[in-house]
Amino acid sequence: MGVIFLDNAATTPLEPRVKEEMIRMMDNFGNPSSTHLSGRGAKVEVEVVRKRIAHAIGAEPGEIFFTSGGTEADNMALFCSVRDLEVQRIITTKIEHHAVGHPVEFMVKRGEVEAAYLAVDAKGDIDLNELESLLKDGPKTLVSLMFANNEIGNLNPVAEISTLCKKYGALFHSDTVQAMGHLPINVREVGYDFLTCSAHKIHGPKGIGFAYVRSGLKIKPLIQGGAQERNLRAGTENTIGICALGKAFAIATEEMAEDQKHVEALKQYVIDGVKAVVPGVKFFGRSAELDRSLYTVLSIAIPNTGNDMLTFTMDMKGINVSGGSACTSGSNQGSHVIRALGEWTSGYQPVRVSFSKFNTKDCAEGFLNALKELYAETPAHV
Ligand SMILES: Cc1ncc(COP(=O)(O)O)c(C=O)c1O
Repeated sequence: MGVIFLDNAATTPLEPRVKEEMIRMMDNFGNPSSTHLSGRGAKVEVEVVRKRIAHAIGAEPGEIFFTSGGTEADNMALFCSVRDLEVQRIITTKIEHHAVGHPVEFMVKRGEVEAAYLAVDAKGDIDLNELESLLKDGPKTLVSLMFANNEIGNLNPVAEISTLCKKYGALFHSDTVQAMGHLPINVREVGYDFLTCSAHKIHGPKGIGFAYVRSGLKIKPLIQGGAQERNLRAGTENTIGICALGKAFAIATEEMAEDQKHVEALKQYVIDGVKAVVPGVKFFGRSAELDRSLYTVLSIAIPNTGNDMLTFTMDMKGINVSGGSACTSGSNQGSHVIRALGEWTSGYQPVRVSFSKFNTKDCAEGFLNALKELYAETPAHV
């Protein structure tokens, strides 16, 4: 067997049907801003995708803005809220993705906004009472809380959060990069102000995504230049990427239920297998609870083995997993998410296994066998 890829929260392999769509669009080279036939042809393609995505999440097409991916969409929501919507405080947590955490820290350092961080408990959960007591007073606020955590899979109670935001007049941004295409999302039912999506998490290409911005929020462009995206995001549209995103999104949405069933079964298989192989194993966050976590993410807490190169050793065995998020691997500071879960985590090493519909039982077996080998090679750890 070749490489077993179990790092799908970092990125996913391209869907063959998405690849076909990209190849098709390569011949449609028109610039959507051109008014001649070639331009109009490309424009139609882009607008069809916008409409389909909007329809799938209960939005209006005019509320969807194509971006270079999740990071840009998150930056747009945060920076524009502070600059254009008089937001003076952001309520968030220390376990958001850096695409949220770093822009917040940046603006706080510049004195542009204040940040209030909700506590997260040892399981990674927030307390809605704390959110409510913060919202009761204070300046104009944006609440930025992700739907599904990319490292520990925890699902935030977005409907309740949205209700509290409405009650106290706060705006609600949710980083839905990991959830979009995996869980049903409807902007009208939950009442979001900003949402984000990245195609490469749902078997599309990298460098394309979108921001949902509720109509009526009068924000100005973050990236300035031409009048693309109804003057909100300058730059000639990534037409191939947009059509690929559209295809990836449509497939993910239409096949969500069967993909979920398949992936959940694999995840449960790995949970059971890991418990049998690793004495004293725990799981970070809610990731081992199928009803409380994103089904694609399992964050294993391996009792310290003395081998601090666990994921590297796995890699040598042909298993691609991650020690945290892709953005933190390579840094020796460990994961900010795991650290935020408290002191107890220092006794454990994180191994994040994240699944996609393309994983099979053989992949799960391969991972478990590699883990078994690792323990057999180093009996002192057991
Ligand atoms: C939760 C979350 N937010 C934002 C991003 C950034 O998305 P992108 O890679 O498209 O910039 C990621 C990607 O890892 C993510 O997992």
